[in-house]
Amino acid sequence: MAKEFEVTPWEVSGEVNYSKLMKEFGTQPITDKILKKLQNAHPLLRRGIYFSHRDFDKWLAAYEKGDMVSVITGRGPSEKMHLGHLVPFLVAKSLQDMFDCDVFIPISDDEKFYIKENMSYEDALVYAEDNILDIIALGFKPGKTFIFQDFVYTKIYKYAAQIAKKITYSTAKAAFGLKPENNIGWSFYPAMQAAHILFPQFYKGRHISVVPVGIDQDPFIRLTRDIAGFKEFDFEKPAALHAKFVPSLQGGAKMSSSEQSAEQSVIWLSDSEKEVADKIKKHAFSGGKATVEEHRKKGGDPEIDVSFQYLKMFFEPDDKKLKKIHDDYKSGKLLTGELKQILIEKVNAFLKNHQKAREKAKSQLGKFVLLN
Ligand code: TRP
Repeated sequence: MAKEFEVTPWEVSGEVNYSKLMKEFGTQPITDKILKKLQNAHPLLRRGIYFSHRDFDKWLAAYEKGDMVSVITGRGPSEKMHLGHLVPFLVAKSLQDMFDCDVFIPISDDEKFYIKENMSYEDALVYAEDNILDIIALGFKPGKTFIFQDFVYTKIYKYAAQIAKKITYSTAKAAFGLKPENNIGWSFYPAMQAAHILFPQFYKGRHISVVPVGIDQDPFIRLTRDIAGFKEFDFEKPAALHAKFVPSLQGGAKMSSSEQSAEQSVIWLSDSEKEVADKIKKHAFSGGKATVEEHRKKGGDPEIDVSFQYLKMFFEPDDKKLKKIHDDYKSGKLLTGELKQILIEKVNAFLKNHQKAREKAKSQLGKFVLLN
């Protein structure tokens, strides 16, 4: 029988069953006890998009004891960035704001160069530089935020080599589903990402880091946790926070631009106000009824409505306001067009700010980017 869904770092297909995945991977659910400590966090952390973890309770305990803690999460610069790509970085920023900790952001231009058949070396560099501006624009703290690009910050290589020596080919093959036809860059890359995840400890000494990532990246976390314990390194095992996939505008499981109709199904960070409005009006999957009359009578379904879900995940941090939108939509008082209009205004306000901050970031690179 074919699997109902598949989740690997390089492919996500089918209808993902998250509780099954948690069991399969051996991760823990985010408990109310943890949530209590995240009351001021970004909605992505508070409202269940981050649903699973490894040792995040330990990370919080270390912080409470006054020990050093840090956050590390990266970006594979495969293209320009869309809203879904921001998820781990919004969370990293939120953790930095709450816990005043260092944040490390590796940019795996090498990964995308190896994996994407049509990605030239030059393009990988261009996207890396482009994406770094979007990341800085989110407002990370200078002096506490370290961005590094694999093809530029080549000091990372010596760490990757020490790690690569400890990973057998058969381990990598099993953990990442390597295929005979894959180029050998694919087999080396996991050592690189493990080096990213341990970099905070190579750089600042032994302490616990947390890695906010999509659950598809967990194989890297498992591998790195094993390596951390080897006597050669004697590092703390990194903690992790796992996110569900963000639905595309059209309601697909993942906001992925590899989908056929990418231009319509994602909100690019470079979109104009008009593009955002048009896309949301035309393509955002609606939980509303077919006619206004029926909608007024029976109400809509916020759980499947992508506009509502985006407000919940990203754009309406106020719980009371969100609940009112939810209840009004469910009762039929709020129409789909009106709900979409709320989202359009929120997205455009966010992007206006973002695009300005991105311009400013061009002169701030030196404050954030590690050079050799
Ligand atoms: N592989 C990740 C992706 O494709 C990006 C990434 C690189 C990363 N290094 C990392 C994520 C370290 C978390 C931690 O999205």
